[in-house]
Amino acid sequence: MYVCICKGITDRQIKEAVYDGSTSVKALRRQLGVSSQCGRCAEQTKEIINETLGAGMITAATSGLFYSAS
Ligand code: FES
Repeated sequence: MYVCICKGITDRQIKEAVYDGSTSVKALRRQLGVSSQCGRCAEQTKEIINETLGAGMITAATSGLFYSAS
């Protein structure tokens, strides 16, 4: 699905960039150009960042990367 119409950037491209370490709209703007023109996509971009980071935490937790402190 297209998130940034001005630059033709999809949610998939944003998710991949987040996995590669671009975890802010500013970083994604630098890397992909998202939100660099009209800015209407900024809010949805933030939501995708949060969803992607949240999903990553769940994946890390279920894969045993986190250990109980007790
Ligand atoms: S829709 Fe992304 S800058 Fe316009």
